[in-house]
Amino acid sequence: MKVTDLELAHFRNIDAMQLHFGEHVNIIYGENAQGKTNILEALWLFTGMKSFRASKDAEQIQFHQNEARIKVSFLADNLEQSAAIHFEEKKSAFLNEVKVGSVAALSEKYHAVIFSPEHLSLIKGGPHQRRLFCDNALCQIKPRFAQFLSKYKKNLVQRNAILKDYKYNTSLEMMLDIFEENLAQLGSQIIIQRKKYLEALQKQAAAIYTGIASGKEKLEIDYHCSFKTENEETLKEEFLAALKNSRSEDMQTLSTSVGPHRDDIEIMIDGISARKFGSQGQQRSAVLALKLGEANVLGEKTGQQPIALLDDVMSELDEMRQDYILHHIEDWQVFITCCDPHTILRLKEGKTFHIHQGKLVQEST
Ligand SMILES: Nc1ncnc2c1ncn2[C@@H]1O[C@H](COP(=O)(O)OP(=O)(O)OP(=O)(O)O)[C@@H](O)[C@H]1O
Ligand SMILES: [Mg+2]
Repeated sequence: MKVTDLELAHFRNIDAMQLHFGEHVNIIYGENAQGKTNILEALWLFTGMKSFRASKDAEQIQFHQNEARIKVSFLADNLEQSAAIHFEEKKSAFLNEVKVGSVAALSEKYHAVIFSPEHLSLIKGGPHQRRLFCDNALCQIKPRFAQFLSKYKKNLVQRNAILKDYKYNTSLEMMLDIFEENLAQLGSQIIIQRKKYLEALQKQAAAIYTGIASGKEKLEIDYHCSFKTENEETLKEEFLAALKNSRSEDMQTLSTSVGPHRDDIEIMIDGISARKFGSQGQQRSAVLALKLGEANVLGEKTGQQPIALLDDVMSELDEMRQDYILHHIEDWQVFITCCDPHTILRLKEGKTFHIHQGKLVQEST
């Protein structure tokens, strides 16, 4: 997929702007607080996902205005297409000029992956963030996975609720058995799918990481599972047995101590944990490799290569790593924001956009 044009009106600090993008690398540069990330945010919103800035819709409308409009033209499936979002009291979305039911409906046609400094929490943060990264990717690839996940969560809540009353009312045992059976059934599927996905992701991310680090370091992804078995057949039984074994302990904490909701994903660089021992540049490179790897896996499944939105990715990376991002992410359309004008001097091919106070002040041809 390739974005050709973006039009913004009253979006954040941007009054009115039109950008015509290049097919490969596009660098959006300028001083702090000029509107660079706002442009990437707009490009991201057409995926139908929430903003990576976790803000409310109304915050995207320019101060003292009642509405904002954003429109993108892009090439996908060999067709020129367009998507638009109008932010008023409510949001409305349009695909090829036709109103669609929700902004989420745009996700069928428009694919993007975003790296922003907040995503460093993928390495630095807790296991929940890593599970979410994996599960969200799986939901995009396999819509049934979302059902597994939501059923699993419901059963988890129900088991935990029963644990509370079980010691006073042992007649609840039958229900506990049912919820545990469901958890083992659904949970083993979740674990199997996650492992398969992470294997595919590792192939892609490791290759990208090797490029970024000029072949000097190796990235690996380890799934830390509650269960040791590698055998898919016996996983469910092992899970069920673990649930029964942990009942009395779980009754103390009113929580379920085993299962995929407790698993973690460890990112290793040259065999050691990136979270515990990685340098800032290594952690940044690892997140970037994971994000681009995610997009490659998705691209393979959907047949559409997503665009890559890289917000402030360059800081803390040495010149060699920066050069890889500028010149070797082939087949992608990339949008990079940066403050340092020296970066654009090193760009061999691509387009640059200088943003100042919410306006495009200079554009390379
Ligand atoms: N709804 C809004 N209306 C008007 N201005 C807004 C709105 N939301 C955010 N802004 C302003 O937009 C400005 C630019 O934000 P943005 O995050 O795009 O900057 P940036 O160029 O990426 O800067 P940095 O290099 O520091 O990341 C901020 O100063 C912010 O106050
Ligand atoms: Mg920014």
